[in-house]
Amino acid sequence: MTHLQCIVSERFRYTRLLNNFKQNNLAEAVQKNMRDAPRSIPPVFFYDYRGSGLFEEICSLPEYYQTRTETAILQSIRHELSGYLNRQFRLVELGSGSSIKTRCVLDSLPNMCSGAEYVPIDISDSLEDGAGSLLDDYPLLRITGVVDTYEHGLSLVRQMSNMPKLIIFLGSSLGNMSVPESISFLRTIRASMKKSDLLLLGLDMDKDAATLESAYNDSRGVTAKFNLNILYRLNRELNANFNISKFSHYSIYNKSKKRIEMYLKSEVDQTVEVPGAEIIINLKKGELIHTENSQKYTIPHIRSMAADADLRIQRLWHDPAKKFSVTLLSE
Ligand code: AVI
Repeated sequence: MTHLQCIVSERFRYTRLLNNFKQNNLAEAVQKNMRDAPRSIPPVFFYDYRGSGLFEEICSLPEYYQTRTETAILQSIRHELSGYLNRQFRLVELGSGSSIKTRCVLDSLPNMCSGAEYVPIDISDSLEDGAGSLLDDYPLLRITGVVDTYEHGLSLVRQMSNMPKLIIFLGSSLGNMSVPESISFLRTIRASMKKSDLLLLGLDMDKDAATLESAYNDSRGVTAKFNLNILYRLNRELNANFNISKFSHYSIYNKSKKRIEMYLKSEVDQTVEVPGAEIIINLKKGELIHTENSQKYTIPHIRSMAADADLRIQRLWHDPAKKFSVTLLSE
């Protein structure tokens, strides 16, 4: 048995991949990516309990324009979006998302009044956190969650009844994948779509370096805490002995690749032991550990990604300053 079926109430149930089967094994990733320079830690490991909380905090920072801009777009397109949703739709969200954004989309569903189904897919255990208040505020809503990878979640959704689905992938999370990975992931989504299904994709737009760099190096230091938190996680889960005060947060806009790159910088020459991954790391003063890329997009780039993934753009919306975009796609 790889999954647990949890029935929380008549309106809320979820399928959960058992911990032993989680593929994103931290020890393996650290062993593979931290042994030799250039070193890295995949960004998926940011999101332990504290990391997820810090990310929530980032989303409401004044410098992190992304969340509020995307929310404003979703609010402003509610009626237009409803026009594309002229039958019963099941709402499938990749990532369990901020409930404000989910609510904007739920409000666009015509079957909201007759009872809709919401399927959040998220590998982290945060699903139950947001479910309670959604169920309170939408008395006819049913939630069928999947705590598993997006890929497996999408294959489970394929096995559900034939109702058309609106898949939402917001917050520019696609941008944390490499460009080839993101195309291949869009193809995976495409393969899970049937004729009347739709995909709503939120992407952060390319812009001036100053705006981008301050979004990833905020004045309150929350992004720095978020980045450094990954080292606390290695200490706790892999018995490592990182001295966090000997590392600093570093992020920079790579203009040619149109992406923010985030690193942890070693402030001194130091040796760190990571027993849980069976490695000893010798870091030089100034050496960087790569923790995240955050791709920024242009409209031609979005068009070419859609074409590469064999998806058709139905509509592309952006805010007046073109800071963020929301694209509706079909197969
Ligand atoms: C989740 N993801 C889209 C965020 C981003 O902007 O790339 C993660 C993040 N990293 C630092 N700040 C926010």
